[in-house]
Amino acid sequence: MAHFDENAKPFSQKWLDERLAVSTLKRVLQTEYWIPKNINFLWAMGMVLAATFGILLVSGIFLLMYYKPDTNLAFDSVNYTIMSEVGYGWLWRHIHGVGASVVFLIIYIHMFVGIYYGSYKRGRELIWLSGMLLFVTFSAEAFSGYMLPWGQMSYWAGMVITNLFSGGSLEAYGLVEWIRGDYVPGDAFLTRFFMLHVLLLPLAIIGLIVLHFGTLRLPHVNNQDGEEIDFEEAAELYKAGKVKESKVIPFSPVFLSKDVFVMGVYFIFFFYLVFYHFEFAMDPVNFDPADGLKTPAHIYPEWYFLWSYEILRPFSKDLGLIAFGIAQVIFFALPFLDRSPNVAPASRRGLFKYWFWAMLIDMIILTFMGKLPPTDALFANIGLIAALTFFALWIALPIITKKEKKL
Ligand code: HEM
Repeated sequence: MAHFDENAKPFSQKWLDERLAVSTLKRVLQTEYWIPKNINFLWAMGMVLAATFGILLVSGIFLLMYYKPDTNLAFDSVNYTIMSEVGYGWLWRHIHGVGASVVFLIIYIHMFVGIYYGSYKRGRELIWLSGMLLFVTFSAEAFSGYMLPWGQMSYWAGMVITNLFSGGSLEAYGLVEWIRGDYVPGDAFLTRFFMLHVLLLPLAIIGLIVLHFGTLRLPHVNNQDGEEIDFEEAAELYKAGKVKESKVIPFSPVFLSKDVFVMGVYFIFFFYLVFYHFEFAMDPVNFDPADGLKTPAHIYPEWYFLWSYEILRPFSKDLGLIAFGIAQVIFFALPFLDRSPNVAPASRRGLFKYWFWAMLIDMIILTFMGKLPPTDALFANIGLIAALTFFALWIALPIITKKEKKL
């Protein structure tokens, strides 16, 4: 039995320390969690993501109070009850819709910052892998949420994506029916995607965020020069009052105050979108109720899935599926395909510099092409070249990085 001080006042520091080790937790997670000084505002994106997820959770809880997961009621519960009957229902919906779109913009920025600075290497592999798990889970969360208003795009995107599980020539229609709970998307489909969206996937995301933060604690975050800092030595200097000479600062309150500043600027931009440009996050076709007998002329996913959708489209049925499957998981392999020992910004890393920009531009081109109807031959060819370039870049990565000179 541990020793308890009978005289400690309930809920005093000592009382809490004896029961919850509050001071130790605070030291390990805040005041002695050391962050390099040499990092810029792009390192605030992780906290911006965490805050946006928080906003999605809160706005989602308000929407959940009036949403009805039933194919006869879902469309009206969103487009009529929440949008016009419930006080400020429109605001919660716009916050949720804009948040779901913007969170992907920030995820992509956060990922490409990590790629640019080589933050997935030298002890940081698990940070990258847990981040990728978050990306995949967020994608499933966004897709399942898109089903809920039960509009035309919900229905037909649900149809197209679940059809992919038939595996092309494998013709695994039994699997597709099992996923849908019916021959076509219907009530069973809507209810299970509702469960995934409001329970299972958010729980998984919360667990993965904890894991992601855990994987950051020992390797610490990278810095703008990829410098291998001796965190213990730098921390001793800081604690000895030599704040200027030390290369690190404590996470809380020093670094956190910078994070909060960046979050403030971000939220101005965020609420500007919520109040003045929410329509970019709402597809007009989805304001028509789902109709299984009326296929929309052009079915496309939300902007953040367009690059991988464009990898699926230009190839034949089976090849497209394989290409699409590889594109979904290839980023997991990044820490192992990059064979260079250098942790440094891409600008200092020989051919990798070109690789980085080529990959970014290629994915932007794929995104634009993915939105266009497949009927135009010129755009279809550009899409095909961009998809082939995507794979060529991944094949080239281990070759060019193996030859990279040690800095
Ligand atoms: C969506 C939820 C996510 C949250 C809440 C989150 C949060 C964070 C936070 C707070 C940090 C530390 C500060 C920073 O560098 O920004 C971080 C670092 C990192 N994250 Fe994420 N992240 C998420 C998704 C991802 C994804 C999708 C990836 C990429 C696959 C990723 C890869 C990384 C890497 C490599 C670092 C280390 C950066 C460094 O050492 O400089 N994260 N993340």
